[in-house]
Amino acid sequence: MENIQLTNFFSNTVNFFKAFFETKRRFQTQSSFCRLNRAYADKALANPSFVSPYSLINDSIIIKDGIISGCLINSKNNLEFIFELYILEIGAVRIRINEKNPLKPRYDKVKDWALVQDPLITLEYNQIPSKAGVTSFSFGKEKNQTISIYHSPFRVEFLIDDIPTIILNDRGFLNFEHLRDEESNIESLSETNQSSSKNSIQNAETSGDKLDPKLNGPGSIGLDISFPGYSHVYGIPQHASSLSLKETRGGTGAYSDPYRLYNLDIFGYAIDSPQALYGSIPFMMAHRKGASTAILWLNASETWVDVTKCKENNKNNLFGLFNSGKSINSTNTHWISESGIVDVFFFFGKTSSEIFHQYGLLTGFTSLPQYFGIGYHQCRWNYLDQKDVAEVDEGFDRHDIPYDVIWLDIEHTDGKRYFTWDLDKFPDPEKMQKDLMNKGRKMVTIIDPHIKRDENYYIYKEASDLDLFVKKASGSVYDGICWSGSSSWIDFTNPLAQEWWSKKFAFDQYKGSTEVLFTWNDMNEPSVFSSPELTMPKDLIHHGGWEHRDLHNIYGFAYHKASTQGLINRTEPPRRPFVLSRAFFVGSQRYGPIWTGDNVANWDYLAISTPMLLTIGISGLPFSGADVGGFSGDPKPELLVRWYQAGAFQPFFRGHAHRDTKRREPWLFGDPYTSYIRDIIKERYSLLPLWYTLLYEASTNGMPIIRPMFVVCSDDENVYEMDDQFFVGNSLLVKPIVEEGQTSTEVYFSGNEIYYDYFTFEKIRGSNKIRIKAPLNKIPVFLRGGSIIPKRQKIRNCSSAMHLDPFTLVIALNENNEATGSLYLDDGETYDYEKGYFVHRQFAFSAGKLESTSLSSFDNDKNIYAKLINSVHVEQIIVLGLDMKPSRIIAHTADSDFELQFDLKCFGTLSGINTSDVLVIKVTNLSITEDWTIEFLK
Ligand code: NOJ
Repeated sequence: MENIQLTNFFSNTVNFFKAFFETKRRFQTQSSFCRLNRAYADKALANPSFVSPYSLINDSIIIKDGIISGCLINSKNNLEFIFELYILEIGAVRIRINEKNPLKPRYDKVKDWALVQDPLITLEYNQIPSKAGVTSFSFGKEKNQTISIYHSPFRVEFLIDDIPTIILNDRGFLNFEHLRDEESNIESLSETNQSSSKNSIQNAETSGDKLDPKLNGPGSIGLDISFPGYSHVYGIPQHASSLSLKETRGGTGAYSDPYRLYNLDIFGYAIDSPQALYGSIPFMMAHRKGASTAILWLNASETWVDVTKCKENNKNNLFGLFNSGKSINSTNTHWISESGIVDVFFFFGKTSSEIFHQYGLLTGFTSLPQYFGIGYHQCRWNYLDQKDVAEVDEGFDRHDIPYDVIWLDIEHTDGKRYFTWDLDKFPDPEKMQKDLMNKGRKMVTIIDPHIKRDENYYIYKEASDLDLFVKKASGSVYDGICWSGSSSWIDFTNPLAQEWWSKKFAFDQYKGSTEVLFTWNDMNEPSVFSSPELTMPKDLIHHGGWEHRDLHNIYGFAYHKASTQGLINRTEPPRRPFVLSRAFFVGSQRYGPIWTGDNVANWDYLAISTPMLLTIGISGLPFSGADVGGFSGDPKPELLVRWYQAGAFQPFFRGHAHRDTKRREPWLFGDPYTSYIRDIIKERYSLLPLWYTLLYEASTNGMPIIRPMFVVCSDDENVYEMDDQFFVGNSLLVKPIVEEGQTSTEVYFSGNEIYYDYFTFEKIRGSNKIRIKAPLNKIPVFLRGGSIIPKRQKIRNCSSAMHLDPFTLVIALNENNEATGSLYLDDGETYDYEKGYFVHRQFAFSAGKLESTSLSSFDNDKNIYAKLINSVHVEQIIVLGLDMKPSRIIAHTADSDFELQFDLKCFGTLSGINTSDVLVIKVTNLSITEDWTIEFLK
């Protein structure tokens, strides 16, 4: 009883803190370094004779081994900077600018966390003759890409086929503030900003109640990057905003603040806002007909990005490029970071897929999760005790709803001491997990980075003894408030902390954990209830003496990394980890999925989840999801059904709810709602082979799993802004219903392509918007003509129970009677696929023949996994849109030729629904691992 009172008291105090600081935050506007860089930009724009004071000293330029370097000088204060440009093997270009003689080193370690390795430089470039004061190179496979570096004023232009595609410092906003000592540090930002008095340019900034001392002055960097001829830019998650980024200055519907990148814990975040949220990926992509381009601004300090658009005035000779008669827009961006150096990567391609690939080569492709990761996850803050877990688990079976993982939130621990159990509520965690394991299911427990300051808590004691906590500027260990009360935070940027933390996941360390227990990393922005903006003060000190301000956006990433390593190491041979993280940064895809944080059970949050996840996906992190049902508040049954339908077509699929909400396990709503939820979860399970194949492909080529319309229909300008419908891979077009009471919706079908209703097989000829019926039991989903998708029709209690079940191939033919698709399979748990133990098939239908061939060069006889599933068959093939009625269908395998039965009754109708050209073929003896051909004879 006493315990409960204490918990309530504590939870109320925490809520008070959160509310207090939340209110403060809402009234806080842009940070001073942002305001001042913006003011600098305004001044430059307002003054027609403004010229950037930065220039490259002519005789300082050295060109050697793919590196072009030189000395930049700011004529206003004669400070010098090192400029370096690297032409990279992956086809991208990198530019770095740093102070030549900084007062102390500036943080340049982001690359060590975010990139897979130091990118290799290519020697495949040619210097090309140019006028005096310009240094130019051609590069790229076709040598049609050019870089022109203008010395004075300093400006860099990237051109493709002589058309500018990205320009740096075009508007002269480059502003590199040098670090300075206390004497001179009132000479703050933008000495050129004459209108500001010294007093108004304070180095120290009041942030919440606390003064951020900024001992070495402001030290910010600002730079403008323009995308001539590109009307749309995308990326820079995480914001609850549209896919195509909005203007942040002027323009109709523009935001008044720039997009902010600063990992923060924002409960019930605002919608349609550039407000910073839990994760930050400073990657921006621009797309137009025939070309895509992107930049990565590799900086982990607080960053703001302004986006503006302008009508092109043909300064950049773009008019010849577009003869559509439409007016041409260009997009200008202004990047402002609080500290660090300028380290920017530039990517170029004809399509976005080339960019995804280059970006993946640089920052890593998504790691392939265990197969269960793409199943349905059931979470709640909190499942109360062991009995509750058993009952919920049993509830899924009783109601015939599949699920893979049950999650335990913070209350399962002994007083929010992570890696421990509240043994009163969970007396036998191992048995609890064993019971789940016996059904093929798993469990996830939450592990947060705030460590309760309790000498008797082994994690705190060890970290203290090893001196692994983040420090105050004074050198003492930092403490603040989080769920566990007075807490300290491990400094995950310390390699020793990484190693030590990862060992804590060993089975003999994390008592009560088993092989089916996985991890959830929450509150890792980091969230600190007692500090301004609910995060760490910027002047805290990390390993190597770096200030928190320099690496804030890396903290959660480094934590995610250490936890993931822990799960990999705990078994020998290693097994694939599963660690969900809330905070993220460039490269987080290497460690595990993320979710969009604390949303609310209302229709607006359901709607915004689509653009949010699409944006995160194109920024290199394809495995993500949003809390199904909405975290806080109680969804009405209609909203819950619609949310499950949307969630079933998002990569990470988890229902989650706040502790103050009513219970909402799917069976609590009764029919028809429970049936509708069951149906869509089952549909997700039938499509798991497609989801897993897409994850595998993302792990090798960087393609997002759910794809914006502009990625798939890249030449259709009508879709560049569209973010309420999307593709799963290239084959399923999905339009979630996100409005109350809506029973039909307009779906846009691009081009003159053929689509088929996913559920009824009705044929649709695309060309424009078509109104589609969407009663509550139906989410509009369409098969795109030209695709083949693998499914499993028999749905069992969880994904692992379906490994040896047969497949159905659904062939959706295009207007040429052709289609292709693929299927990837492996053991779903180990790293054996890295040895070649996987099955990767290509299916291709053309000229009346369906062929299954291997995409793997590994010999099936040596392929342990292929042998294991050799008996797994294709049991059914459904062909949509075949332009002839076959008289016979013959299968040819390596050993024999035989005739297949097909269902003529289904030709023209299916279950009473009018369909078009549906042919259902019953199949036997066709192994999923072998090559075969099926011939359709007239
Ligand atoms: C905040 C997380 O966003 C939420 O999902 C979780 O339930 C609570 N923390 C409690 O751990």
